[in-house]
Amino acid sequence: SFLNIEKDPVRVLVTGAAGQIGYAIVPMIARGIMLGPDQPVILHLLDIEPAAESLNGVKMELVDAAFPLLKGVVATTDVVEACKGVNVAVMVGGFPRKEGMERKDVMSKNVSIYKAQASALEKYAAEDCKVLVVANPANTNALILKEFAPSIPEKNITCLTRLDHNRALGQISERLKEHVSDVKNAIIWGNHSSTQYPDVNHATVTTSSGETPVRKLVADDQWLNTEFITTVQQRGAAIIKARKLSSALSAASAACDHMRDWVLGTPKGTWVSMGVYSDGSYGIQPGLIYSFPVTCEKGQWSIVQGLKIDEFSRAKMDATAKELIDEKSLAYSCLD
Ligand code: NAD
Ligand code: LMR
Repeated sequence: SFLNIEKDPVRVLVTGAAGQIGYAIVPMIARGIMLGPDQPVILHLLDIEPAAESLNGVKMELVDAAFPLLKGVVATTDVVEACKGVNVAVMVGGFPRKEGMERKDVMSKNVSIYKAQASALEKYAAEDCKVLVVANPANTNALILKEFAPSIPEKNITCLTRLDHNRALGQISERLKEHVSDVKNAIIWGNHSSTQYPDVNHATVTTSSGETPVRKLVADDQWLNTEFITTVQQRGAAIIKARKLSSALSAASAACDHMRDWVLGTPKGTWVSMGVYSDGSYGIQPGLIYSFPVTCEKGQWSIVQGLKIDEFSRAKMDATAKELIDEKSLAYSCLD
């Protein structure tokens, strides 16, 4: 019957696949959490030579897990082999921040990786390849990837701020003691860094009496305008402090959320946050990868338009844009 016709497998690249996020995300992808429970996948796993043995161990475990949707595994340290024909690229490879480091400290190490891998993706990936950059500095790595892969459509290059988005929903859920799946339409504006602006001015909670604004339910503007914002901005650092390692399971889960919504669409009436190439919306200068509220349909994202922005928000949206402008020039100076 029609129901038994299998879809063609999708090739999914994960760079840095021997690392922490890699180890958390590959089973999620192989179980259909990223692309759907009926979508077969072939995993392309890339890491660097010193991690080759450990990468092979991950491949062995994938075999041992006997995932029904997993149709093949390419585990390699050759970037060309890794990029060949991939439809989805999840770029996790790089060096994470350690306790006490700012994102700027990881900049020079990571942007040069993204410049090199841009060329390989441009040459060898499938034409419609969708790229998600996770490795920090995520927005600026994505921008460098975009600039050095000019033939990849700019709409196909994004970075992860869904983790911050989910963190914002999580904090509201904890505060109100409402389930997190009933909270929606928070916004992360700007950079995946401590200048990001988590905005709940349009967020709602679905209760028995319908959709109610978060601002009305929390009724403590002081908390929303201070502690809530800094908690979300600093959450990455708090996890590093607690685990002595940066977030991995939540990052992997958010990367799956990002890609799933992008490919399969956002639910009606719901938006999510994605770092995307700015088109000048909300007065954010074009030429930055900036996190905006987006809806997705048929594999395309679009920025939610027409939201009212107050003065408090404006200042915070501009401050994080300013940081991205500075990061961009710092990145270029690292590449010289
Ligand atoms: P990790 O050190 O455990 O793993 C990174 C892996 O990348 C390592 O196995 C390393 O060998 C590999 N690698 C290094 N250079 C590479 C290259 N040129 N090509 C391919 N692989 C390469 O780090 P992790 O904890 O998995 O974090 C990965 C990245 O994700 C870090 O930059 C981290 O800061 C970032 N991160 C981002 C978010 C986000 O929300 N955007 C969240 C968490 C972590
Ligand atoms: C996170 O947000 O958890 C990661 O980007 C790790 C970090 O450096 O903050």
